[in-house]
Amino acid sequence: MSVDLAPILDLDNPEIVANPYPAFAEARRLAPVAWHSGLGLYVATGHAVSNAVLRDRNLGRIFVERTPEAEWDTFNWLHADSILDSEPPKHTRLRRLIAGAFGRGHVQRLQPRIAELTGKLLDDCAAELEQRGRFDVIAHLAEPLPVLVIAELLGVPDADRHLLRPWSQAIVRMYEVNRTPQEEAEAQVACREFAAYVEALAADRAQHLGEDLLSDLVAARDGTDKLSPRELVATAVLLLNAGHEASVNGFGNGLASLLASGATPGAPDLLVEEVLRHDSPLQLFERTATADTEIGGVTIEKGQKIAALLGAANRDPAVFEAPDEFRPDRDPNPHIAFGAGIHFCVGGPLARLELATSVGALLDRWPALEVVAADRRETFVLRGFHSLEVTPHH
Ligand code: HEM
Repeated sequence: MSVDLAPILDLDNPEIVANPYPAFAEARRLAPVAWHSGLGLYVATGHAVSNAVLRDRNLGRIFVERTPEAEWDTFNWLHADSILDSEPPKHTRLRRLIAGAFGRGHVQRLQPRIAELTGKLLDDCAAELEQRGRFDVIAHLAEPLPVLVIAELLGVPDADRHLLRPWSQAIVRMYEVNRTPQEEAEAQVACREFAAYVEALAADRAQHLGEDLLSDLVAARDGTDKLSPRELVATAVLLLNAGHEASVNGFGNGLASLLASGATPGAPDLLVEEVLRHDSPLQLFERTATADTEIGGVTIEKGQKIAALLGAANRDPAVFEAPDEFRPDRDPNPHIAFGAGIHFCVGGPLARLELATSVGALLDRWPALEVVAADRRETFVLRGFHSLEVTPHH
């Protein structure tokens, strides 16, 4: 335990949370893996080591809770029974059930619908612009689009879609390193309400199976015994949350980076990868050692934790030329914003399609935008904007 990263990567310091990249660079120069006494875990600071942390099979995502299962609250079982927090063979079984729905072919078929929804949202932006001379891309485009898409995929009725984002926002506060007891209590309430809502919706689908993904999950639960009742709810809740949180923030961060760079966007596919790399919406993922494991010259003892810093990995000069520059046509772009290894984002093709469609359509309508006001979230793990107001500039 040579270097302590806590003073360098001080996540209680709002300035560092607002712009962690200089601290990441300093941390990377010090050591590829270092102890962080504030977080109580090891941190991987570079691309190669973060990638290795996510792929090493002795470093797992295991839900550890000391209370007996019978006394677990909803938060605990929503996580213990989710794909994100499980390991093989359970992970393999759950992943197989949902991966089919998010394969490239299936997702590609959503393209016209995503384009149509984007068009409608851009009309809302135009109306806002007309009235106020500016519009908030988060409230009017980045947030509603992925919520509408994932709700539609799962079959959440139109009238209920407004419930999803507040529940999800309350729950994800639990992933932050600087959360408060009140936020924890609010997350517990949101978990209970969200789980009860999904249970009721699944009971309804069991009566009338439809074309949606929730119906598929209900069929898997009832037909083949491959999905337990709790796993079904945990999967639906995770998809509804993971299916939009990072996309909202990825859009806002990427657009802000692009506009600040003044660069001209070229091919949409390359632009999306740079959007995800330059200011990654998910910054930190933890793993727990299931056996003593050497990584980046440090031994992580069984039971200890190590975190991959995705945003730091994605600015590593050993992999990316001029990593702080936003280059819309960067190619190759081996960022790890979607993770790596067995938990690699299952929604990657959907997220890419949503981003390419929405950023592309926004810039087609208003090729020269400028940011007039930006309000960053105070959170580190989920990095994004509350609001990002833009206006066409002349
Ligand atoms: C820009 C958008 C997105 C980003 C940056 C992102 C990023 C990630 C990352 C980094 C992981 C790995 C976590 C880990 O290793 O512990 C992950 C997993 C996951 N993501 Fe995404 N994601 C995005 C969008 C989506 C969407 C649209 C969906 C669903 C439709 C989704 C569903 C999931 C699920 C279910 C997992 C867990 C996979 C597993 O454990 O095997 N994500 N995502």
